[in-house]
Amino acid sequence: PKKHKVTVVGSGNWGSTIAKIVAENTAAHPDLFERNVQMWVFEENVVIPQDSHLKAAIDADGKPQKLTEIINTYHENVKYLPNIRLPDNVVANPSVVDAVRDSTILVFNLPHQFISNVCKQINGHILPYARGVSCIKGVNVSEDGISLFSEWIGDALGIYCGSLSGANLASEIAQEKWSETTIAYDPPPVDHSMNPTPRERSRSPTGQATRSGELTPSDALAQDIRHRDARGQASKIKLTPLPAAYPPLDHNTLSALFHRPYFHVSMVTDVAGVSLSGALKNIVALAAGFVDGRGWGDNAKAAVMRLGLMEMVQFGKEFFGETVHTATFTEESAGVADLITSCSGGRNFRCAKLAVERGVSVEEVEQSELNGQKLQGTSTANEVNSFLKARGLESKYPLFTAVDGILAGRHKVDDIPSLVARAAHDY
Ligand code: NAD
Ligand code: 13P
Repeated sequence: PKKHKVTVVGSGNWGSTIAKIVAENTAAHPDLFERNVQMWVFEENVVIPQDSHLKAAIDADGKPQKLTEIINTYHENVKYLPNIRLPDNVVANPSVVDAVRDSTILVFNLPHQFISNVCKQINGHILPYARGVSCIKGVNVSEDGISLFSEWIGDALGIYCGSLSGANLASEIAQEKWSETTIAYDPPPVDHSMNPTPRERSRSPTGQATRSGELTPSDALAQDIRHRDARGQASKIKLTPLPAAYPPLDHNTLSALFHRPYFHVSMVTDVAGVSLSGALKNIVALAAGFVDGRGWGDNAKAAVMRLGLMEMVQFGKEFFGETVHTATFTEESAGVADLITSCSGGRNFRCAKLAVERGVSVEEVEQSELNGQKLQGTSTANEVNSFLKARGLESKYPLFTAVDGILAGRHKVDDIPSLVARAAHDY
């Protein structure tokens, strides 16, 4: 029997933490996985910080060193996850094409602005039967509309891609402090012969009887597409079956790959709900930072969290229809729990708060305080706003709209109460 080879595409604060988790589990499950985990590193020369415990060992002279070499020699990502030892079976690789070669499981974990370029590079270099899990918190907005990065990666690479998201501040998880996460994985049924199964033949995804009789292969594909996407923006992927020699790539296998005693996994099927809540909560976290930075206290923060959660659910229902479950937002770690942790200690929250306190832009704080880590909320607020504006729907999402207005200088933090009050009766 074959084993799954795993690659983590990305090695930032969360990417390195996920690589640690995954590598602990590939070592713990030699029946399912190859031991070594490839981790693609966007190569850069790094000067070891003065206060690093590795300073004397690596670089007494202050000369920049290649990040991949530091990781592979000292098993620490000194820039993006300092003071955390990575397992020896995490292999840092500066070539993304080489890192994904022959891997059956691709874990995408990098800031969302870089995913398009990475997919272009690896397209044609991955196994046709690979499967993906996206840990990216963002949405893809284009002139045609809005899509999830899990969908977008799947379409770009011709594979199925699920989504992992939760109340997951990377620094806490890297220190093995207990947390929960949600993984959504719901690939369409793969039919080796392209003949639909009896259930597919007679049932639509919503469970309604469709038609009887044999379907042609193209009909079978159409059924798969409807299964994936009730919005009519059908994914065009035709899945290549995983060879039978591999362990099935199902909820059990993914749970074995990600679950740790300190990282509890809940497996669900609502990919849209999990992806969307992870993206949209970043806008709300900026709002929480704005009001906290203004010194308005916990009640104001709770108010923006309440409104934000309502807008998150409304957005999911309005644009992703029946594929989204409200319970994902209200009951899963990916929903309300991520909202709470992000509005307490997330980078978007902290940078927005500091920006108000210092009277500078959020981007300036990002540059000065994050040492190369990237905020996702600022671009997501802008992308979601252009999507809503193009449809004349800004007033239905007053908090999302206010956040973008503040970032763009059209509004002040002091305007938030009146901006959100105007449309409060709509809820
Ligand atoms: P990060 O914020 O640490 O970003 C830095 C990473 O971006 C580094 O690996 C850097 O090499 C890479 N990078 C910089 N320029 C690049 C380029 N031109 N091309 C490709 N890569 C480049 O990243 P992160 O914290 O690992 O976040 C990845 C995703 O995970 C994001 O969508 C984020 O929202 C999500 N997330 C983060 C956390 C967290 O606590 N950090 C928790 C949960 C989810
Ligand atoms: P930030 O990117 O705002 O730090 O959020 C991290 C996160 O997603 C926690 O779940």
